[in-house]
Amino acid sequence: MKIKLIVLGSIFGLFSMSCKTESYKDRLLTQTEKEQITFDVDSITEFIVHQYKKSLEYAGKGDMIPRNSYKDGTIRLVPIEDWVSGFYAGTLWYIYELTGDTSWVAPARQWTEVLDPIKTYEGIHDIGFMIYCSYGNGYRLLKDNRYLPVLEQTSETLCKRFNPKIGTLLSWGNLADTVTQKYHNTIIDNMMNLELLMFSAKKFQKPYFSDIAVRHADNTIKCHFRPDYSTYHVVEFDKKTGEIVKRETHQGYDDNSDWARGQAWTIYGYSMMYRETKDEKYLEMSSRCADRFISHLPGDLIPYWDFDDPCIPDTYRDASAGAIAACGLFDLSKQVKDSVKSLRYYNIAVGLVNRLSSEDYLAKENYYKCLILHSVGHWQKKTEIDCNINYADYYYMEALLKALNLYDRKNENS
Ligand code: GLY
Repeated sequence: MKIKLIVLGSIFGLFSMSCKTESYKDRLLTQTEKEQITFDVDSITEFIVHQYKKSLEYAGKGDMIPRNSYKDGTIRLVPIEDWVSGFYAGTLWYIYELTGDTSWVAPARQWTEVLDPIKTYEGIHDIGFMIYCSYGNGYRLLKDNRYLPVLEQTSETLCKRFNPKIGTLLSWGNLADTVTQKYHNTIIDNMMNLELLMFSAKKFQKPYFSDIAVRHADNTIKCHFRPDYSTYHVVEFDKKTGEIVKRETHQGYDDNSDWARGQAWTIYGYSMMYRETKDEKYLEMSSRCADRFISHLPGDLIPYWDFDDPCIPDTYRDASAGAIAACGLFDLSKQVKDSVKSLRYYNIAVGLVNRLSSEDYLAKENYYKCLILHSVGHWQKKTEIDCNINYADYYYMEALLKALNLYDRKNENS
């Protein structure tokens, strides 16, 4: 279902105005769902359209991807090999899905198709994120068969990173260098690359894609979790024996802490694996990870960047972790059988979207060309602390669509 917006220039030229016969809330949501949403959906939509039109003007027609937007009006552009390169196109697809305005299709295509060379890129595991968020969403919405070879080729490239002895995909390092790499590393974020493989297994009738995804997900359960369902960020394996050599962090507070974004990836990743396989252990994992995540949220819901930072409450929030968790919790709430749990996950997910849609998190100042502020990228390196990052925008958009029942399940990739 697409909402038709007639966009008029506003008198002051700041925001466009949307005119509809019915509001989003009335058309799409039940009475109970409507009552849960505390923000004005039309104003948020106008804000999103305004911000990303500004971003597109800045980004132009090059092949450098907007990653961060700053208060001084500048945008940091990164090459297509950067792990975040697919989120920009993905956000444009989601804006098209939110508004139904076909003028978003051309820029969404442009910023998707610029990523074509990534299909054979052997530098990093993130090619799943890069291509599924861009080409995957594009295919979901347009069913353009020209996008399929890129999705298939990327899956083939990703599977080259699978080590059968260890049973996981290699996360970091160029494949050409693996001979000299001492250990085989796998990070918790890698769960998110499995969605591409599950899609490709069905679409291209290649069961080895899903076999690899299942083995990776199963071994991640064995190796990445502590008894309380918090996660280790990185696990290093001996390449000869397959034994675990060390468990450590890269972006979290320390090796034994629970990095909030890592925990959010697990809620989403295992909920997705349950949806695709119907294996109950994945539902159990997603639910356990969600319970742990929720139990560590502060009263106003947006997580601190690491649940074990000793400076809490005098430390940073990570809006991106909140947005990712909201997406996973919406999915989980639809899948758990226990109605009390289902409602709880749904309520927290909506609460996160409400909070992210508030003045405290929206990039309301005129000069930003993005949506969501206050994420933490890499605390260990002291980079991207308390700022906008394009994946916060992407997962916020996805959570918003899910809150509004606009994320088109019937149109889901299959
Ligand atoms: N996948 C890297 C991160 O979440 O920052």
